[in-house]
Amino acid sequence: MKVLRTIAEMRLWRRALSGTLGFVPTMGALHEGHGSLVETSKQHNGATVVSIFVNPTQFNNQDDLKNYPRTEERDLLLLQDWGVDAAFVPRASEIYAGGCNYEVGEKNHSLILCGAHRPGHFTGVLTVVAKLFNIVQPERAYFGEKDFQQLKLISAMVEALNMPLEIVACPTIREADGLAKSSRNVRLTPAERELAARLPQILKRSADPATARMELQRAGFKLDYVEDLWGRRLAAVHLGNVRLIDNVEI
Ligand code: PAF
Repeated sequence: MKVLRTIAEMRLWRRALSGTLGFVPTMGALHEGHGSLVETSKQHNGATVVSIFVNPTQFNNQDDLKNYPRTEERDLLLLQDWGVDAAFVPRASEIYAGGCNYEVGEKNHSLILCGAHRPGHFTGVLTVVAKLFNIVQPERAYFGEKDFQQLKLISAMVEALNMPLEIVACPTIREADGLAKSSRNVRLTPAERELAARLPQILKRSADPATARMELQRAGFKLDYVEDLWGRRLAAVHLGNVRLIDNVEI
């Protein structure tokens, strides 16, 4: 597996490829959720590249950025195990060499749900994803349905800005007790981890968002939101200092 650290290296490697390229953008701290995106990309494409980049511009909370798990050595071993062809692991100074004077913004769905609670978050996400698409130039890119609002916004950006690639949505991968796999789960205490599994259960069994809100609060979650949209019930909650999001089909 090639480890590419600069944009120039990434472009050179990409130019030498003949078949289709699948791309899985990540912020590292890899888990089976990312593994399933890689697996799907490998089925669809001649080669697969995974980026690991903890994007500072999408963190509205500096503590969250500071505490975000960084496990590069382990991540690279996992990617090799999964049979990835290349890992793109740039520094922030490489990606934002020219500063952050240009952004990709969205004026509607980026302002609700997570966007209402994390001002600027989706501008950071859309900007870095657009930059990564321009650098990597994949035929297809793979995103998990766990981050449903992110998936919707990226799909809509690709359509609105006529970007020449296909966005492939992949189902949420869950632990045995139903908790959605997430890089943030490692920061839960054992008691919080046990309680966290009730999030998808309550979302699923409640008749409406108001009931789900009441039940989640009663169980001990602090809520950002529970809303129904896009045929899903979407939620963001806090357990201690960990923020969890999830969504279920309704
Ligand atoms: O979902 C993520 O891990 C990030 O938001 C992404 C898409 C890699 C952009 O930084």
